[in-house]
Amino acid sequence: MSSTAEAEQRTEPAARGKISATVADWSRESKPFFAWSPSRSLLATLRAYERLRDSRLPWNAVLRRLVVFRHRFWSVVTGADIPLGCKIGGGLLLPHPNGIVIHPAAEIGPNCLIFQQVTIGSEGNGVPRIGGHVDIGAGAKLLGAIQIHDHALIGANAVVLCDVPAGRTAVGIPARIL
Ligand SMILES: CC(C)(COP(=O)(O)OP(=O)(O)OC[C@H]1O[C@@H](n2cnc3c(N)ncnc32)[C@H](O)[C@@H]1OP(=O)(O)O)[C@@H](O)C(=O)NCCC(=O)NCCS
Repeated sequence: MSSTAEAEQRTEPAARGKISATVADWSRESKPFFAWSPSRSLLATLRAYERLRDSRLPWNAVLRRLVVFRHRFWSVVTGADIPLGCKIGGGLLLPHPNGIVIHPAAEIGPNCLIFQQVTIGSEGNGVPRIGGHVDIGAGAKLLGAIQIHDHALIGANAVVLCDVPAGRTAVGIPARIL
């Protein structure tokens, strides 16, 4: 299944109800070893860094260096700016990772989906906290100390400056809750 078809299937209402906001579905990030999926390769570097981050073992310091180089490579390939050490729950889907920018202090829950050109960033007063199973449409900007609750949907090109309640949809500039 192509990444676009997979993403569309997962955003259908029937599929949405089945996706957990708390338990990460790691199969969403997995791929066969030689399969070409730059976004999953980028995510693999984030996960490898998480595993190695707190280790004091000397060889893990070397492995961490290698992970940093892998992360730089896949960041260039994908055109995404997702810093190592971001708090991102498992099961993240990035069907088209180009242009995604995530602030290092932002928090993202499990099983979220982020389309291309999304910015999750600061507006000077803090950064967004995003719950579990939140789907963020292409080009959306989430700015400031806002809370996006579980199972919310953010429309394409929305500029979200306010909290979004659980299961609700936010669209427009500035975003309104449907
Ligand atoms: C937000 C979204 C999920 C809403 O879907 P929905 O619940 O079926 O909503 P509807 O289509 O019934 O629209 C409801 C209202 O929101 C408006 N609306 C929907 N999406 C909008 C958007 N992205 N920006 C502004 N308004 C939007 C509709 O015009 C409609 O307004 P009205 O009530 O004044 O007539 C969907 O429109 C969307 O943006 N999905 C993102 C898809 C995406 O990014 N795909 C990338 C593929 S590569």
